[in-house]
Amino acid sequence: MTKMAIMGFGVVGSGVYDIVTKNADTITKKIGEKLEVKYILDIRDFSTHPGADLFVKDADVIARDESVTLVAEAMGGVTFAYEYTKKMLMAGKSVVTSNKELVSKKGTELFKLAEKMGVSYMFEASVGGGIPIIRPLVNCLAANKVESIYGIMNGTTNYILTKMFKENQSFKDALSDAQRLGYAEKDPTADVEGFDTMRKISILTALSAGCELDDDKIPHEGITKITAEDVLCAEKMNASVKLIGYSRIRDGKVTARVCPMIIPSDCPLYSVEDVFNAILVTGDMVGDVMMYGRGAGKEATASAIVGDLMDVVRHKGKFDKNFSWEEEKEGMFFEPSEEENVFFVRCDKTKDEAKAVFGDVKFVEGASCAFITEKMTEKAFDEKADTLGGVLSKIRVYM
Ligand code: HSE
Repeated sequence: MTKMAIMGFGVVGSGVYDIVTKNADTITKKIGEKLEVKYILDIRDFSTHPGADLFVKDADVIARDESVTLVAEAMGGVTFAYEYTKKMLMAGKSVVTSNKELVSKKGTELFKLAEKMGVSYMFEASVGGGIPIIRPLVNCLAANKVESIYGIMNGTTNYILTKMFKENQSFKDALSDAQRLGYAEKDPTADVEGFDTMRKISILTALSAGCELDDDKIPHEGITKITAEDVLCAEKMNASVKLIGYSRIRDGKVTARVCPMIIPSDCPLYSVEDVFNAILVTGDMVGDVMMYGRGAGKEATASAIVGDLMDVVRHKGKFDKNFSWEEEKEGMFFEPSEEENVFFVRCDKTKDEAKAVFGDVKFVEGASCAFITEKMTEKAFDEKADTLGGVLSKIRVYM
């Protein structure tokens, strides 16, 4: 039997408990032994919960108990989660997490610590909720140089975009439904302003490039500026608008960005809706591969955590991580203003005025002045937009 603890009994932590309890027989059959939850760490009162005896408020109780070898961290954030993760790793326990912020900011240190202690630090649930993406990227696609990653990686915003623009719900109602369904972060600003996607693309890019990326260097925008007019124009072009985290790697240099994107109907990301996420990886040998599934929610995210827990048990505490994750290298980032993109623009100028500045653009039929530019650098776009006297919408186009 392997004894484990759960740190944080919110949406995801309680999902881990439910799966370990409900699917106990399946889990035992697959790993050859029972997985037993011995402690749940949470400062709130759970005295009426059927597992009330398991709750503790002091992380040291878990750290000191040598019979516990495995810990699921579902606390979120980088304060207590960071402190307790280090404590557990230092006590020789493997830690499995869904905490993208912690992995993206402290991955270098935590992977080294796990290595030193001969235990595992696993994070499949940190990107894409229930979708397998970390293992496919570092194992199945290991033979490739990853050229690009484009992902719809935030369930909350994809849910909101679907509800607002397909079902005419208000932003406020769609967000409160996403919160009720357990999709949104404690502070949903992290979802709607793109921070959550930024952390996830940072993790995937770090795995592909072999070193940590400072999140602060990833330009990011959320969904709050997308208008009904933008979505209508996209539909006229047979395209959709999605919040995308992307990275492109060329000659060891990386660009990464989070922004709304116009997705044409021939791209597999086009029809990903609701809480679903999809991550499109392009490798130099394999070509395009897309992983798709539920990107947020209790059971989906907990399913990825429990999968990691089971792998740690199967590998007797030391799952071979199979990737390198070093500190950020000087000069590895491509200057964002020099990055090239194609842009969708909506403006309150005439078509002739737009053409005079942007040249031979493709106008959206049936819209007053909306068009798609040629490929150009971010800097060149901003200069042209200034010359035009500003634009109403600027959305990058998937290419
Ligand atoms: N708030 C996140 C989302 C949860 O909506 O995708 C999963 O990481």
